[in-house]
Amino acid sequence: MTNKLKYFVGNWKMFGDFSSLKIINSINKFCQTHKKTFNKKKVILCVPNTLIEFFSKKNFKHISIGAQNCHHEQNYGSYTGSVNALMLKKVGAEYIILGHSENRSDGDNNKILKKKIESALNQKLKIIFCIGETLLEKRKGKTFSVIKKQLSDSLNKSHELNKIIIAYEPIWSIGTGKIPNISYLKKIFKFIKYEFVKKYKTRKSPIMLYGGSVNASNIANFSLISNIDGFLIGAASQSSKKFIDIIKNYYK
Ligand code: PGA
Repeated sequence: MTNKLKYFVGNWKMFGDFSSLKIINSINKFCQTHKKTFNKKKVILCVPNTLIEFFSKKNFKHISIGAQNCHHEQNYGSYTGSVNALMLKKVGAEYIILGHSENRSDGDNNKILKKKIESALNQKLKIIFCIGETLLEKRKGKTFSVIKKQLSDSLNKSHELNKIIIAYEPIWSIGTGKIPNISYLKKIFKFIKYEFVKKYKTRKSPIMLYGGSVNASNIANFSLISNIDGFLIGAASQSSKKFIDIIKNYYK
């Protein structure tokens, strides 16, 4: 296995209980057998809030634990059923997914996401910020303007940008088995980098992930895109075999 380790981020969504420890154990064991490659903890599992403390206390050598969303308020308050970034940090989360399309469709808009990003950064959580267009927006040729707005409305120059990972997830690809073609993806990643560098007047490219129907059979396609730093993996991350096969096939 080569040393050019990419990020492999699992998004478990609403899945898992204490017995799911065996999934993480298997993934950690796999990383251990390739420990030269996995010495940078770029395998991240974003699990339900109910499992964060249980998993983070295991102190996995090769896996970081993350959350999947939070409330935008920094402080405690009357928000029944909600959990904020402070509470997630306290139970051991290191990362947090924000802006996932499943949460955007539940009401998370760019303005609310900006608040969530700020409160997560205040808690020193690293953010996996999801952006991406719907099928309709793609058909109408609006992909680039949608992405541009998602970036510019939610990110701020004062943010610690090295704590923010951008995950491009076309909504039409999530859970559908459809993936964008390579030339489309190359353009998108180039565009995200361009927007980022322009807006933040930095030479540093953001860390960029691709997400949407990533599996062991299609992962090899993505190695053709040099700008991709890793993957955000939904359904396939709920099985240690599928997740490990993705990693193995990427490096084949
Ligand atoms: P999927 O989900 O891999 O099941 O398409 C990706 C995601 O929702 O982050």
